[in-house]
Amino acid sequence: MTLGITGGTSLFGTKLLKGAQEKVVETIYGSVYLLVTDAYVFISRHGKETNIPPHRINYKANISAFQALGVTNIIGCTSVGSLKRDITPQSVVVPHDYINLCNVPTFYDDELTHITPDLDEGLRTAIINAAKELNIKLVAKGVYFQTSGPRLETRAEINFMKNYADIVGMCMASEATLATELGLRYANISTVDNYAHGIIAAETLDYKQIVADASKSKDNLEKVLLKLI
Ligand code: HPA
Repeated sequence: MTLGITGGTSLFGTKLLKGAQEKVVETIYGSVYLLVTDAYVFISRHGKETNIPPHRINYKANISAFQALGVTNIIGCTSVGSLKRDITPQSVVVPHDYINLCNVPTFYDDELTHITPDLDEGLRTAIINAAKELNIKLVAKGVYFQTSGPRLETRAEINFMKNYADIVGMCMASEATLATELGLRYANISTVDNYAHGIIAAETLDYKQIVADASKSKDNLEKVLLKLI
């Protein structure tokens, strides 16, 4: 079965994507740039040029492109900040739930349908088992708090969020919600690139540092994905 993968910038240039064929799929929501092999369909959520910021990602086009290609299992790979001191940078987290209080995307603009959001437990277990077999340590549970971005969070926002969630990012909940609306299975692997703003009192967050650190966890992420494929 072909696996669907969404990723940010850190997976570019990895062995995983070597030899994949570039494709553009047209959907009624817009066109989607993909990398395809027999084993997977990879969507770069920030686009081919990796210049689409989180609040402008066309999630509806991305998720419906998976459906159009017959992909039913999706693993979203996201970069996050940690809301907990014991979830250190470079940790890998497989969230079991998420919070997204604003900007909830939907395919149901013209009908009354209310899905119950969820992350797929079968896919979560597959990810956790793949990491175990590879001796890669991961955090097997966690709540992901989604913000709309593109700015990072204030210290006060993080102080609030840390009571309810473990990691913070800008993309996963939107993908999970839309996948569930289309009846597709979705789970997530989040790589922790930094402590969220104010978790370490003296630290001021710098986006350039976050991007530099994202590449540090990509080896483990790539290994788990290769195993799953
Ligand atoms: N906040 C939101 N998104 C992120 C962060 C963060 O601290 N780090 C990586 N993605």
